[in-house]
Amino acid sequence: MHLSIITCLPRLLESPFNDSILKRAQQKNLATVEIIDLRDYATGKHLSVDDYAFGGGAGMVLMIEPIDRCITDLKTKRKYDEVIYMSPDGDLFNQAMANELSLKKNLILLCGHYKGVDERVREHLVTREISIGDYVLSGGELAAAVVADAVIRLLPGVLNDETSALSDSFQDGLVAPPVYTRPAEYKGWKVPEVLLSGDHTKIEDWKHEKALERTRKRRPGLMVD
Ligand code: ADE
Repeated sequence: MHLSIITCLPRLLESPFNDSILKRAQQKNLATVEIIDLRDYATGKHLSVDDYAFGGGAGMVLMIEPIDRCITDLKTKRKYDEVIYMSPDGDLFNQAMANELSLKKNLILLCGHYKGVDERVREHLVTREISIGDYVLSGGELAAAVVADAVIRLLPGVLNDETSALSDSFQDGLVAPPVYTRPAEYKGWKVPEVLLSGDHTKIEDWKHEKALERTRKRRPGLMVD
C-alpha cells in the first residue's frame, strides 16, 4: 500500500511514521508513506497556500490551486483508489472502515488546516471525507496519522503474529478481553486462575465470555443480536 499525505505542516507527521510498527511496515516494504508539503505546489510571490474567506468571517482557507496541482501531479505517478479529505464533518472512522481501506492499493490523505479547504476541493477533487471523532483538531494531520496507523497495522505481514490483529477490539464486534502478564500475583492481586491452567479450550471460552461481558458493559451499541 502507498499512502500520500498532503499537508502544509509536514513536520507534524515526522514522528508517527518513524517508530515501531509503522516504521517496520515501511522497512519491510509492506507500506510506503510519502509526506507531501503543499507549499511545494504554491505559486506566486509569497508561495501562499491559504487566503481569506470570501464573504469574511471564518479564518484562513486552503486554496484550491496548490491542492489541485499537487493531486494532479501525484496522479501522474500512481492510480489512486481514493482521495480522502480529513475533516471533522466527514464519515466517522471505525474498524470496519480501517478494514476496508486496508484492501486499497494507493490512497491520498489530504489534511486541512485553519478553517479548512475551499469547498470546491471537496466538490471536485475529493472522493471521500473521514472524521476521527466529533471534536475539532487544529488540522487533519493527527487524524491522518490515526487513520494511517489503523490501516497499515492490518496489512498482511505488518504485525509479527498476524492473529493479533484479528483479536483486536472491534474486529469481531466485541471489545478485547482483559490481558495479564507476570507476576501471577502482585500485592495480593491475582491473575484469574483459568489463565494459568494450561487448558486452551477453557481459556478461549473464558476470553470470549469476558469479551462479551466487557462489550455489554462498555460498548453495548456494538452487540449484534
Ligand atoms: N480535522 C480537524 N478535526 C478533525 C477530525 N475530528 N477528524 C478528521 N480531521 C479533522
